[in-house]
Amino acid sequence: MFKTRVTEKLGIQYPIIGGAMMWLSTPEFVAAMSEAGCLGLLASAMWKSKEEFQGAVKKVKSLTKKPFGVNLNLFPAMRPIDNNDYLDVIGEEGIKIIESSGHKAPEELVSRFKKMGLVWIHKCVGLRYAQKAVSLGADMITVVGFENGGATGVLDLGTFVLIPVVAEAIPVPVIGGGGVSNGKGLVAAFALGAEAVIIGTRFLMTDECPIHPNLKKALANAKETDTVLVMRSLGNTHRIWKNSTADKILELEARKATLEEIVAAAAGAKDKEMFDSGDVQRVTISVGQGIGLIHDQKPMKAVVEEIMKEAREVAAKLQS
Ligand SMILES: Cc1cc2nc3c(=O)[nH]c(=O)nc-3n(C[C@H](O)[C@H](O)[C@H](O)COP(=O)(O)O)c2cc1C
Repeated sequence: MFKTRVTEKLGIQYPIIGGAMMWLSTPEFVAAMSEAGCLGLLASAMWKSKEEFQGAVKKVKSLTKKPFGVNLNLFPAMRPIDNNDYLDVIGEEGIKIIESSGHKAPEELVSRFKKMGLVWIHKCVGLRYAQKAVSLGADMITVVGFENGGATGVLDLGTFVLIPVVAEAIPVPVIGGGGVSNGKGLVAAFALGAEAVIIGTRFLMTDECPIHPNLKKALANAKETDTVLVMRSLGNTHRIWKNSTADKILELEARKATLEEIVAAAAGAKDKEMFDSGDVQRVTISVGQGIGLIHDQKPMKAVVEEIMKEAREVAAKLQS
């Protein structure tokens, strides 16, 4: 059950993609996703030189023999070096799967993807972006409804509408997400036409996720109403956990503060300080509405097995 074009092409046991997460997708966390039967994705933008990125790729390889891929960030301001430099390393290290994320498909990189024989997954939030990427040669499309943690784009489409709209319109397989936190969500995404799901928020609450235990404790008590959308005024909307820094950003946006003031409060580079320090009000963390479905922390493998067990049970129940 749950063997699809996505699992076959990517060579993974379960139809689950572990979402790339800035500052968190360390080699250890990515390898844990792959070892658990999912596709782990390294967030290349975390490494500020080719050498450091190459070290991270080698580290993942030393930790797992299972497939993993690399996420290329398409927002120039959010990565320290050119994507062509990451692609040099991807070629040298024999990585076969890449995911691009951002609304504008990476036209300038596509011929290189093809020459390198990469499986190219493009992640976006709407049909027109998906169709553009398919026209350029994307092998799979990931769509995330705006329930998701992280960047949400501008369309504000929920997962329940987005997946079927895209799956019915494009010939390549669709990976769906935004709010998928358990086996019920996985089966629902499949019913809507997805051939795999992408999960970020649920995986924050795993033993291997490198955020401070204080933050995991706080998130274990978070409800589905405890996320907010920030930075809409900058054209860079993100769904994050509602802490006092999130409130401050919203207040700055409401009183039309300067770009510098908002960026200073929201600065993504400082997120890592909070992940490490355990001061849960210090900055922000991307979190999706699916946090309301998560109340416990477990090893990655146990989380994935639990999702798959529930998915099989739900599918069997629906069939009967
Ligand atoms: C803490 C966190 C950081 C994220 N960072 C990135 C990122 O750097 N690049 C990216 O493409 N997506 C990022 N995402 C989005 C995930 O890869 C994934 O698409 C999303 O989490 C799926 O929805 P869910 O959170 O409802 O499971 C992030 C998500 C979270 C929760």
